[in-house]
Amino acid sequence: MPLALPPTIGKSMADELSIDPWGSSQSTDYSRIIDQFGLQSMQDVDVPNPSRLHRRDVIFAHRDLDLVLDAKRNGNSFGVLTGLMPSGNMHLGHSMVIDQVKWFQELGGDVTIAVADLESSATRGVSLTKGREVALSEYISYYAALGLDPEKTNVYFQSTRSIVQRMGFQLGKRTNISEFEAIYGFDGSTNLAHVQAPLVQAGDILHPQLDEFGGLRPIVVPVGVDQDPHLRLTRGLAAKTNWFNVNSAKNGGLLIGLSMQEENAAALGQLPNGRVDRDRQKEVFSKIVNAVSALGYSDIMSNPKHGTVHLPGATLADRGKVRMVLLALEREMGGQGLLAPSSTYHRFAVGMTGDKMSSSKPKTTIFLGDEISAVEKKIKSSFSGGQATVEEHRRLGGNPDIDVAYQYMMYFFEEDDSYLGEINSGYRSGSILAGEMKQLCIERATDWLSNLQEMRDQTAHLVNDFLAPDAL
Ligand code: TRP
Repeated sequence: MPLALPPTIGKSMADELSIDPWGSSQSTDYSRIIDQFGLQSMQDVDVPNPSRLHRRDVIFAHRDLDLVLDAKRNGNSFGVLTGLMPSGNMHLGHSMVIDQVKWFQELGGDVTIAVADLESSATRGVSLTKGREVALSEYISYYAALGLDPEKTNVYFQSTRSIVQRMGFQLGKRTNISEFEAIYGFDGSTNLAHVQAPLVQAGDILHPQLDEFGGLRPIVVPVGVDQDPHLRLTRGLAAKTNWFNVNSAKNGGLLIGLSMQEENAAALGQLPNGRVDRDRQKEVFSKIVNAVSALGYSDIMSNPKHGTVHLPGATLADRGKVRMVLLALEREMGGQGLLAPSSTYHRFAVGMTGDKMSSSKPKTTIFLGDEISAVEKKIKSSFSGGQATVEEHRRLGGNPDIDVAYQYMMYFFEEDDSYLGEINSGYRSGSILAGEMKQLCIERATDWLSNLQEMRDQTAHLVNDFLAPDAL
């Protein structure tokens, strides 16, 4: 497919890849990222109404997206969550996440948006008052302009939703400094605000499934791949709270096991003296059997002595729904019943200069509020995939895979696949020159940005409608 990006750009390293959500460097070795972090490729996923970003392989990987797509298929609800740092201005990179949130919203998901005002006050020195101002006047205004539906979107602030802080604090029990060192590369000199931020963020990600925020359902978090460490942490934390786990059984099928913890010992029949309360245990196992038989399994081997229930007829594909009924059971029995979040990962558009896109380096990206004349300048001086001279370009052709002007049309400005295909091959063959490609991009960017500003004015009155009651 001519529109797709090459599977691998950049370095091949023998050492471990690391992803740093706060770093300025960025690996673009996407197939290695998939392998090393255990992501699932999007290639075999059948996406309904694929968006521009799906069609162009920009969204290249996921975790447990099938839970969300199954919910959609079966008419069950699912949620979408994202967060924003209320500092600096919104740029194209941020808008890509909102495109995905909007896509999930159109698919039927309810949307929750965390304003990470605690995080930005602790790590970037933005006061809560200033954070609120920036969130509303910059980010949420553009979310409205980009077409998010205020009726199906709930924006809240970390500072005024105490449940996310409480969850962050309590989830801290499930991890330790060593894990933070391994996941984030922290060391003894790391400021503790940086330790707290990911825990509060885990609260952000997990709380929409609580009963008072919509209940148990899959929640998907669309992110750039640099944010995966947060997802890995959060998934791990959620799993560690679970009372029941579900794994493939050695002799086939699925095996449900109990996870004994301080919190659930009494409920699961563990007496303080270390002995087992047989009656309680029996009751627990019959609850498990009831829960899974509601799914239609007839062959259920309950073995309280071993602490397991075996479903020989189940397959790995059934794991999601078995988990769901057990999480519901856990909640009934007094546990939190937290489902690990699903996630999707997008590639990064290159920065305009060829480096990583970054708010702190305005030349590397286009801000949604940039003047057209500034945008024109940025595109004109952007990194080009053309040849050194016109003569060579005509003879050898250009490379759209590294040409910023082309890439920005692909990621952001050009909706029409066939037109994009045409300019891609025109560029490769040398019939479209680098300057011409930039001109095309300037035209598209001008249309896109002027339209966005117009929408922003038209939707300005909706901004407050996005706010959850605890954010007013
Ligand atoms: N930490 C994120 C950032 O730096 C912001 C954020 C807070 C977030 N909570 C979140 C992102 C939950 C996704 C999900 O931009």
